[in-house]
Amino acid sequence: MKRKIGVFDSGIGGKTTLTEIMKLLPHENFIYYADSKNNPYGEKTDNELFDIVCNIVDYFISIDVKMIVIACNTATTRCIKFLREKYKDMLFVGTEPAVKVACDNNYNNTLVMATPLTVHSDRLNDLIEDNIKNNENIILISCDGLANAIENNNEEKINFILHSLLDKYIDKNIDAVVLGCTHYPLVKDRIQDILKDSVLIDGNIGVAKRVKQLLTENNLLNDSNEDGSVEFITSKKE
Ligand code: DGL
Repeated sequence: MKRKIGVFDSGIGGKTTLTEIMKLLPHENFIYYADSKNNPYGEKTDNELFDIVCNIVDYFISIDVKMIVIACNTATTRCIKFLREKYKDMLFVGTEPAVKVACDNNYNNTLVMATPLTVHSDRLNDLIEDNIKNNENIILISCDGLANAIENNNEEKINFILHSLLDKYIDKNIDAVVLGCTHYPLVKDRIQDILKDSVLIDGNIGVAKRVKQLLTENNLLNDSNEDGSVEFITSKKE
């Protein structure tokens, strides 16, 4: 049996990451865990989130995955350091707000949209400090409720939250918007409708490249030429 790659998020958002990984690695087999029961991660305490995430990691280890992709900025910025300490033999790839991409492009004004936990994480602050240049201005937006509204496909709430958060930046010369939660690419057209001239950036391609690089370095690439597969599971009780 070919070993799978475990991918998880607090629901459907991480599928945006999975799609990019599958484009780059079409022969790999994946298991995607949508932890919808515990959505939103971005409004949990650190302890709650760490327990939730460890349960998923334990499950993935029990089915012998070869790598775990945390397709969630919140779980990555808050937990990946501790996961790497606790599960020393597991390969982890995380998803972080693509602040570096924005800074490397020398945008003057960048908005970073993320969950409350990500916005207040040391990791996001470090990412900004390590990459920001003198001429660059980065504005963090804590998007309370947005990931949950997207998860529940609540159109009205999604529109209300996006307009309340973003309307004030229309005509403020925002060059780029970093989508710092894997749920947000699912509503990128609506974000673009509000901030028409801004470039939208997410970290999913970077994650896919890192997955490929780590599999290659560890001799774990699937050498079959057959199409890969993906199995979806969810924690949500219908
Ligand atoms: N999709 C997740 C992220 O990238 C989590 C959203 C949430 O559950 O709050 O942050």
